[in-house]
Amino acid sequence: MSRFRLDGRLALVTGGSRGIGFGAAKALAESGAGVILVGRNEAELQKKAEELRGIGPAVHVSPFDLADSQNIAAWFESITESIGSPDILINAAGMTRRGPAVELSLEDWNAVIALNTTAIFELSRQFAKKLLAAERGGRIINIASLMTAAARAGTSPYTASKGAVGQLTKALAVEWAKSGILVNAIAPGYIATELTEPLVNDEAFDTWVKQRCPLGRWGEPEDIAWPIVFLASEAAAFITGQVIYVDGGWLATF
Ligand SMILES: NC(=O)c1ccc[n+]([C@@H]2O[C@H](COP(=O)([O-])OP(=O)(O)OC[C@H]3O[C@@H](n4cnc5c(N)ncnc54)[C@H](OP(=O)(O)O)[C@@H]3O)[C@@H](O)[C@H]2O)c1
Repeated sequence: MSRFRLDGRLALVTGGSRGIGFGAAKALAESGAGVILVGRNEAELQKKAEELRGIGPAVHVSPFDLADSQNIAAWFESITESIGSPDILINAAGMTRRGPAVELSLEDWNAVIALNTTAIFELSRQFAKKLLAAERGGRIINIASLMTAAARAGTSPYTASKGAVGQLTKALAVEWAKSGILVNAIAPGYIATELTEPLVNDEAFDTWVKQRCPLGRWGEPEDIAWPIVFLASEAAAFITGQVIYVDGGWLATF
């Protein structure tokens, strides 16, 4: 099992204060990695870091608004100076704005694209620049979506942003493969988190998810966390440029 261990690695986890990001951070810590949790709310990050202390070797927090793409480079530089250069990047921070395309504002569109797509591009290349300069390999795991492959009405900015995440994953994987930086995406099915709370609480939607999903339930953050650990580990040394659907069988049926 040692090939699945992450001892001695440092992982930067965006969206690390709750949901899928926090689940990933916990599993990474349990696998031996130091973790840096990123989100906007510092108090929430500190609270979640406290839960992880004693599980992994080191837990850090770095509050930052990733929608501020102009300042991602300077913020990432400050992390590498104060904490160290991460070996693993988990791009889990994400958001949605739901509504008919004709009613959404351009501000809605720009906000979703800024966080779900632009921030991943900018942070990934800042992360890679350090590794390339040091001639070190590393791992990037992006969180895509069922909407990387298919669409639902009322989610046009989110669907476009997650489609881009799938293609960006392949583009960066191809570009950096020879340097040992492996880039993959996990595309979760419906996972019960704060992001999907309005859907979990909508009885008709909840019933539909349970009927539509072959495994008959919502996913939990833990369902996504261990595939992330696998992709971050030596066990996945020959996997790059993949979008792996962890969806309870959702896309296998219609
Ligand atoms: N839940 C699902 O069913 C599902 C399915 C497919 C894909 N996904 C994707 O999985 C990822 C995580 O989703 P989730 O369900 O875990 O969401 P969530 O529970 O809403 O958590 C979102 C995380 O992102 C952080 N975040 C939000 N805006 C940010 C910003 N501007 N800058 C920095 N951090 C920010 C949040 O912290 P702060 O609010 O403190 O900033 C929080 O830690 C997203 O990319 C989402 O699109 C989710």
